[in-house]
Amino acid sequence: MLKILTIETTCDETAAAVITDTLEVLGAMVASQDEFHQRFGGVVPEIASRMHLERILPVIDATLKKAKTSLDELDAVSVANRPGLAGALLVGLASAKALCLALGKPLIAVNHLQGHIYACRVALAEQYAKNQTPENKREDIFPCVGLIVSGGHTNLYRCRAPIDFELLGSTIDDAAGEAFDKVASMLGLPYPGGPAIERAAKNGDPKAYRFPRAFLDDPNRLDFSFSGLKTAVRYKIAGQGQVDFSQIQLSEKETADLAASFQEAAVDALVGKTTHALQKTGMTALCIGGGVAANTRFREKIEIAAKKRNIRLHIAPLHLCTDNAVMGAVAIERYRAGLFEPLDVDAYPT
Ligand code: KG4
Ligand code: ZN
Repeated sequence: MLKILTIETTCDETAAAVITDTLEVLGAMVASQDEFHQRFGGVVPEIASRMHLERILPVIDATLKKAKTSLDELDAVSVANRPGLAGALLVGLASAKALCLALGKPLIAVNHLQGHIYACRVALAEQYAKNQTPENKREDIFPCVGLIVSGGHTNLYRCRAPIDFELLGSTIDDAAGEAFDKVASMLGLPYPGGPAIERAAKNGDPKAYRFPRAFLDDPNRLDFSFSGLKTAVRYKIAGQGQVDFSQIQLSEKETADLAASFQEAAVDALVGKTTHALQKTGMTALCIGGGVAANTRFREKIEIAAKKRNIRLHIAPLHLCTDNAVMGAVAIERYRAGLFEPLDVDAYPT
């Protein structure tokens, strides 16, 4: 059985996992840094890299223990070396290189964004294993349209095969998660903004305010834009010009209505553009990953849209939406294809 140690430090999660060639996760750990970035309302790159430095070795140790796997038993070490924060990427990459050098094992570098789609593949494999589905009855997630909705990216891909992804469209300004984080901050809600907006929106009216859904009238344009939406919310809260948001007092109802109306507009844009991508490519499967895919309203609406069009929907389970090292399962495919890296391979920040 092939066993690969995967390492993830692209942003503010320090994570490791041991994954087999049947995509079984023998052990996985994520150390989140949310509490250290919270008071700044977003990820502070320097804090992120320092926290990764402190945590990477304990996280790897604990993961190997959980997986009941020794370093000697590993067939390779893999790390996400793109895209992400420069300092954060370097910690994971240096750790993976050091392990490979010391153990004489091959190094595999993976793309973090492909990983968000792979989270769906691992979840599907787990489901098949649990239901004891025979090998010849198992379907793969590929080919599919892939949507990645995270704090740094909002990308649509034509995923032809495991490591053959073609970018169809992306955001021309803010990423979806970034918009959730910034709107949350304007509303005085904590970081990370996505879960906070979702909680506030539960008591709000999504039709209270009509916010823009960019490019939805053009089915041929597969790009996203969230900065106009963010600005529209800002004007609704505080009007135009310079504002000190800490001085603005919103009632609970206003906050809930603004959160719900913003969330509805962001979700409509994501669902609408994804539907356009499915129409344009003629693909019949859809895979979705990234932190924003944890949003309940988004999950409801994309499920309805997929059902209506007879699309096979794979959406990452909640614990695999935000960053983790199980996504590093891309490494299994690269191992099979013999795609190893020299020990001087670089990190490729965003
Ligand atoms: O994938 P991820 O962990 O990190 C990146 O690669 O960026 O995504 C983090 C983003 C944050 O912007 C966070 O606010 C958002 O995902 N997020 C959510 C939810 N949970 C996390 N956005 C909307 N609703 C949620 N429930
Ligand atoms: Zn991510």
